[in-house]
Amino acid sequence: MLDAFDFVIFGGAGDLALRKLIPGLYRAHREGSLPANARIIPTCRNTQMVAEYKDKVRAAAEKHLNADEFVAADWDEFAQRLFPVFVDIGTKDEHWDALATLLNSSGNSQRVFYLSTPPSVFSICCKHLHETGLITANARVVVEKPLGYDAKTAEEINSQIAEYFNEEAIFRIDHYLGKETVQNLLALRFANGMFEHLWDAKSIDHVQISISETVGLEGRAGFYDGAGALRDMVQNHILQLLCLVAMESPNKMTAERIRAEKLKVLESLRPLTGNTVKYNTVRGQYVAGEMDGKMVPGYLDELGQPSNTETFVAIRAYIDNSRWANVPFYLRTGKRMKQRFAEIVIQYKDVAHRVYPESAGAATPNRLIIRLQPEESIKIIMVSKDLEKHETHLRPVVLNLNFADTYKDFYSDAYKRLMLDAAAGDASLFIHRAEVDAAWSWIDPIIEAWQRPENKPHGYMAGSWGPQASSQLMASDRRRWFSIDEVLSGADQ
Ligand code: BG6
Repeated sequence: MLDAFDFVIFGGAGDLALRKLIPGLYRAHREGSLPANARIIPTCRNTQMVAEYKDKVRAAAEKHLNADEFVAADWDEFAQRLFPVFVDIGTKDEHWDALATLLNSSGNSQRVFYLSTPPSVFSICCKHLHETGLITANARVVVEKPLGYDAKTAEEINSQIAEYFNEEAIFRIDHYLGKETVQNLLALRFANGMFEHLWDAKSIDHVQISISETVGLEGRAGFYDGAGALRDMVQNHILQLLCLVAMESPNKMTAERIRAEKLKVLESLRPLTGNTVKYNTVRGQYVAGEMDGKMVPGYLDELGQPSNTETFVAIRAYIDNSRWANVPFYLRTGKRMKQRFAEIVIQYKDVAHRVYPESAGAATPNRLIIRLQPEESIKIIMVSKDLEKHETHLRPVVLNLNFADTYKDFYSDAYKRLMLDAAAGDASLFIHRAEVDAAWSWIDPIIEAWQRPENKPHGYMAGSWGPQASSQLMASDRRRWFSIDEVLSGADQ
């Protein structure tokens, strides 16, 4: 069990807090993971918000939790842990002292400050925490992306926080690392002898990492248009997934060792600069199209102004080390795509010598598919003899480990997991400052090259699989984006 803690959420009435943080803490409460005295202290911008807070979060929880999770009696019990307070982050006044009195009254040894706020106020918030004497030995700060807009701005944000907190106390969250299957990827690799021997350029043909979303701007036009898919999804989530696939085995599962191995991967990414960017990347921007039988507007219509921001990106990346020499990693993400899913596909090389005649059916390489959402599963595509046919006929079949079947009442909740880790002081699934720097160092030259007129985004229809150029990127390597339906029906041959 964790030591008792106080969990302060700056921006406690904001969208993230209502949609993810409070529901996640409620789940933790229900499953008995919160210590008896643990308290949650959301900050609000005025006293009226404080007065209405409990009703507001209750309504939000009812909306965002699964129907069978919201139990009135459990919620009422959980609500006793909530201590909403009025704090104006930018003004050091008596409300900060009141927060200090509240925190110092509990005797809870651990303190977490979750900055669910724009990065522009991180610095002032940390300064006021410091001036109020709240940064004790067991205090940690959790910060959310966007951690900068490029290497320089990320460095500024990180330096500002570092004025008040040691690196060990700074927990940079990437919610993809809290997804259960992502952690299972580590268990799969490092707790199963059979995979480690088949995890390199000798056995693997290529890797695909895709995060495909059906949503569009979701009312975040201001933020998104300044960012785009590369900054919003690749710099953090996709590169983190790539690190977990590609890293060497840490000698222990500790934060320090895991993060050191991930950093080596980021530093080994082959730089994409100047002319190589056009050849190895595809940018897209959705135009109006049909989704679920309804027309949805294009990006520019949603935005209401001209823009070259990409809502889709595909990249051919290489990791220049001996394990991954010349193995392409194809990375792809987009908004308003045909289906919502996130998955990693490890495609193995074909058999070295074909012993079966052509008439036995086309060869299908083995694939290991790690699906993060919507369902969490690990599948292996194998080739087997078709039992219904007398003559030898081979066909692809799937070994399927679907976690929803095994863990029937388990709700995977990345934020819950990461908040509990922060409360426990376990930084294994959080990002080190050096990782942020290395990721931006790889991303920045791509963004720079994209400023050239020839690198404007290609249009793609909402509800499609992205621009044609994305399929062409694969086709030019004689490969295709993976689709299990195509593979099983033989349509990928
Ligand atoms: C966020 C991005 O980090 O991740 C959003 O800012 C994106 O644009 C979201 O929609 C996707 O997260 P998930 O867990 O729904 O795949």
